[in-house]
Amino acid sequence: MAVLPIRKFPDPVLKEKTKPVEKIDNEVLKLIKNMADTMYAAPGAGLAANQIGVLKRVIVVDIHEHDKHLMAFINPEITWYSKEIEESEEGCLSVNPEIHVPVPRSVKIHFKALNKKGEPVEFEADGFLARVLQHETDHLNGIIILDRISPEEKRKALRELSEKRPPV
Ligand code: NI
Repeated sequence: MAVLPIRKFPDPVLKEKTKPVEKIDNEVLKLIKNMADTMYAAPGAGLAANQIGVLKRVIVVDIHEHDKHLMAFINPEITWYSKEIEESEEGCLSVNPEIHVPVPRSVKIHFKALNKKGEPVEFEADGFLARVLQHETDHLNGIIILDRISPEEKRKALRELSEKRPPV
């Protein structure tokens, strides 16, 4: 079990684009294990590799609140976004889990990735899963929730963030 420190905004690693995984080797499997441990310890519903400082296209997701249903995706891609958008409160382990901002997201998506065995998986997602997959795929592209909200909402969130941050 390895719970790793989660990189926090404004760490520049969160702005970096991650690279596709070319080979699913033991290093990648260990990364997935560490990401899952870190996500469950936080706790959170998802985590992207650059949130622990690794610039690889890997995400882990678990939207179940009680029993564990871990999903790990390598080289994820959203191949279709519904035109229907919904705004809902979202938090991020790299911002501050206590701060929630209204993020507009597609209600439905088509999602494509490799699982940890290297097999292609493809499915349609909606509801909270669609939201989490969009959030984590955003991370891999250097985008966080503060980039998805209005300047006014962002100012409000940054103010709240500076109030919550412990003095150094
Ligand atoms: Ni996040």
